[in-house]
Amino acid sequence: MKPINVGLLGIGTVGGGTWTVLKRNEEEITRRAGRPIRISHVADRNLELARSVTGGNAKVTDDAYAVVADPEVDIVVELIGGYTVAKDLVLKAIENGKHVVTANKALLAVHGNEIFAAAQKKGVMVAFEAAVAGGIPIIKALREGLSANRIQWLAGIINGTTNFILSEMRDKGLAFADVLAEAQRLGYAEADPTFDIEGVDAAHKATIMSAIAFGIPMQFDKAHIEGISKLDAADIKYAEELGYRIKLLGIAKRRANGVELRVHPTLIPSKRLIANVEGAMNAVLVWGDAVGATLYYGKGAGAEPTASAVIADLVDVTRLHTADPLNRVPHLAFQPDQMSDLAILPMAEVETAYYLRLTAADKPGVLADITRILADRAISIDAMLQKEPAEGQSQTDVVILTHVAKEKDVDAAIARIESLDSISGKVTRIRMEELNG
Ligand code: HSE
Repeated sequence: MKPINVGLLGIGTVGGGTWTVLKRNEEEITRRAGRPIRISHVADRNLELARSVTGGNAKVTDDAYAVVADPEVDIVVELIGGYTVAKDLVLKAIENGKHVVTANKALLAVHGNEIFAAAQKKGVMVAFEAAVAGGIPIIKALREGLSANRIQWLAGIINGTTNFILSEMRDKGLAFADVLAEAQRLGYAEADPTFDIEGVDAAHKATIMSAIAFGIPMQFDKAHIEGISKLDAADIKYAEELGYRIKLLGIAKRRANGVELRVHPTLIPSKRLIANVEGAMNAVLVWGDAVGATLYYGKGAGAEPTASAVIADLVDVTRLHTADPLNRVPHLAFQPDQMSDLAILPMAEVETAYYLRLTAADKPGVLADITRILADRAISIDAMLQKEPAEGQSQTDVVILTHVAKEKDVDAAIARIESLDSISGKVTRIRMEELNG
């Protein structure tokens, strides 16, 4: 049967993996797709690399626009990254009637609404399994496998770099900066790791998942984003003493009056399976009203794991490209005219539990003052840990775990606690999730 032709934009790590896996598993993939999937045209700035990977078996160019304009290309795979050129190329490909497969989470989180609207109008597919959690088929699960459910919430470890850093900090008791340097030396973290460590990459992925979980537009600009660069090794240790681990979670939660969309370091009970996801691995926990909790685990990055997701999309698009566009799976899981306008809630309205660490004078009445301030805001204490002052010191660390409270009440309580004469410096606040229903 006539092969379907793929134009590949970028033959670096993931593009190279896609070429390799398509060749290695050609027969199985053809049996699944119903026809061969062939990369016919490759664009890369590094022509020498492109020629060496393809070995003369595909046209090679350094002009990505030549690929999106190639009349023989049926599907364009965008692996360039970024928002500018990649956006233009994706929109041009759509305009030229080509289906698009992309791993570009930043592009979809920020410009997805415009891209999906253009694709809808043109009757082409934009598939993006590789954009979230690399090789884990989480988009397929959310969009199709769980479609009977009213999804209540999801929480994911969706950035491998930060999970590696947190695992090393906990295992070796090291400071953030030392582990980051190690991660860069090992090639885990980018030379400029800002998007990873400041939570932006995780927020891109959480935004995409929130859209398909709840049938809302992409609203990256409303996501609350906090990374791990200010995390103190002492908090990882105290959390552990209290039976918790700290993970950078991307959370999307349905509430009666809106959706919480947030990325921040989070205490989770050590006994949860997801708390034991270590190193650069990813995992996403999804709660649906019918199925309960489901957990997806695997490699969130790397050549072949990400290629696994890209090729799954290629197979899907190959099977469906002759189908009536109305009979395809909608881009964002819900029919485009059935999208919800459920708002993303401001952080002040978020409800969660909290870990608070403060440095207090070790004298009578200090704890009474603190508990009074919390009680005034109806914030209930779940557990407390007080360390003996170090030799010769008159101050000590006090750690308080609260029950679920509203963020704005906790903000107000923290401001009052910080104004007490007996408290030094800032209160450290880390949010806490039980992840049990
Ligand atoms: N930079 C990402 C991570 C990998 O560290 O998980 C690709 O999304």
